Amino acid sequence: MKEQLKAIEERAQAAISSAADLRSLDDLRVKLLGKKGELTAILKQMGKLSAEERPVMGQMANQVRSTLEDMLTERTEILRQAAQNARIQAESLDVTAPGKKPPMGRLHPLQIVEDEVREIFLGMGFSVADGPEVEYDYYNFEALNLPPDHPARDTQDTFYITDKILLRTQTSSVQVHVMEHQKPPIRVISPGRVYRSDAVDATHSPLFHQIEGLVVDKGITMADLKGTLELLMQRLYGEDCKIRLRPHHFPFTEPSAEVDVMCFACHGKGCRMCKNEGYIELLGAGMVHPKVLEGCGIDSSVYSGFAFGLGLERIVMRRYQISDMRLLFENDMRFLEQYR
Ligand code: PHE
Repeated sequence: MKEQLKAIEERAQAAISSAADLRSLDDLRVKLLGKKGELTAILKQMGKLSAEERPVMGQMANQVRSTLEDMLTERTEILRQAAQNARIQAESLDVTAPGKKPPMGRLHPLQIVEDEVREIFLGMGFSVADGPEVEYDYYNFEALNLPPDHPARDTQDTFYITDKILLRTQTSSVQVHVMEHQKPPIRVISPGRVYRSDAVDATHSPLFHQIEGLVVDKGITMADLKGTLELLMQRLYGEDCKIRLRPHHFPFTEPSAEVDVMCFACHGKGCRMCKNEGYIELLGAGMVHPKVLEGCGIDSSVYSGFAFGLGLERIVMRRYQISDMRLLFENDMRFLEQYR
């Protein structure tokens, strides 16, 4: 029995010190000291011993038990420490490592220039008016002196929701909304999306942006129109920028003009950029037609006004020398990242 105890102690010692993890150590504890363990099995044989031998063996068995317990505790501590170290190692954070930069958003070039134009007009005492993109035919055409059979409607074909409701083709519709609700003096701009059933190419898109301007007051003349637009272009393109008005026709303005801006590349001399014109066409404008004023309840014998509509994409393309309008709508980060 003595030898058996000794043998258990020796085997246990080797097994405990080579246990690789806490789990196998726990298995060992059960195997050695548990109810069905090896030590217990030996103690059960105590009954066969003589009265003198019993206490000696009992003491020895207790000693072995406490030795094994000590060894198990010690090994547990070592393995626990090792496990913790491994975890710390695995979860360690190098606070000096360079960080990952989150991608920063920035404004779209269309938005950058729209904001700039807004600022310029706010500085001249204009306010900003908004209007619906899904619009009644009345506001987009009829009230602007374009009755149902007017041929000029053909140049602004659009997407019809019903016979009477459409996607607006021009921000001029906002003029009518403003004049219906506001009496002169009126000074507003109205930036927004417009739609036309145009095929996509380098200079056309079925969706684009306009900024409408409207001024109505006593004694407003063409000179006010020209001065306002000249100031706008000088702010956008530089102090030496000049504009030029050419006679044109719009049903809702009389007289009407197309406004050209001096070519920023050659300063009016003529180059490839402006097809040797020296000027580039940029927007439509004119004096608000008396019929439009009257239709909105404004007395055209007392008040007069001017209006203009500029294409935001054109201004942006000139400003940044972008040659293809599609780039503005493709949302390619490599393109958009270039503008701030
Ligand atoms: N709405 C016109 C267009 O889209 C531009 C314009 C606006 C012309 C205001 C005159 C006055 O072509």
